[in-house]
Amino acid sequence: MNAPLKTSRLTLVPPNAEWLDGYEHALAQGWSPNTTHDISRDQLAMLRRDRANFFHEAYHSPNFRLPDGTFVPRLPARDFLIVDGEFCGRIGLRFQTGTVELPPYVSGHIGYTIVPWKQGRGYATEALRRILPVAREVGLARVMITCDDDNIGSIKVIRANGGIPAGDKDHETRPDRRKLLFWVPTPEA
Ligand SMILES: CC(C)(COP(=O)(O)OP(=O)(O)OC[C@H]1O[C@@H](n2cnc3c(N)ncnc32)[C@H](O)[C@@H]1OP(=O)(O)O)[C@@H](O)C(=O)NCCC(=O)NCCS
Repeated sequence: MNAPLKTSRLTLVPPNAEWLDGYEHALAQGWSPNTTHDISRDQLAMLRRDRANFFHEAYHSPNFRLPDGTFVPRLPARDFLIVDGEFCGRIGLRFQTGTVELPPYVSGHIGYTIVPWKQGRGYATEALRRILPVAREVGLARVMITCDDDNIGSIKVIRANGGIPAGDKDHETRPDRRKLLFWVPTPEA
């Protein structure tokens, strides 16, 4: 049975130096903040090269590196660390101002990942619930979230937050799987 969710302890915080050690520990355990490809080793090297600038480089650099190595301009974003007194994971929103559309290289508006030792406590469900008003604030009445068709946990997280199935598409890296699409409405203020 899942450990009970203590919502009062769960917080979304912008990446900041207080959580650098916890983030580093997670990377060192092989946790990848990006779910489409494993960037744990790259980020760990980057963090250990320049601790002071790490979060800025990782979340605010002007360009973003795609899995194929090409760089694209970073979209406007709202990135958060998920903490419960300890580091638990990350969740991020990316968007284009004034439109719900996303460029083809971005699979969805919101991505999240919880470190393995904090999974199964309702944290991803709660983190998504808490970021949806942020999406509304930036002008999105609904967000597109995608996940692999065999990612039962993520499907449940999305559906628990009102996700409406919106079809599927080819998977970029797993030819044997489909990518499921969901629209998730954001709450009116
Ligand atoms: C998917 C993921 C975000 C779920 O995080 P989490 O904090 O464990 O999720 P929750 O605790 O909120 O669980 C939500 C539901 O999914 C279920 N669940 C979680 N992980 C599961 C798994 N691996 N298999 C089956 N069900 C799972 C939970 O039991 C819960 O079900 P319930 O509502 O019936 O009780 C987490 O496993 C993760 O970070 N995975 C790797 C990265 C990833 O896949 N990110 C999402 C990309 S779209």
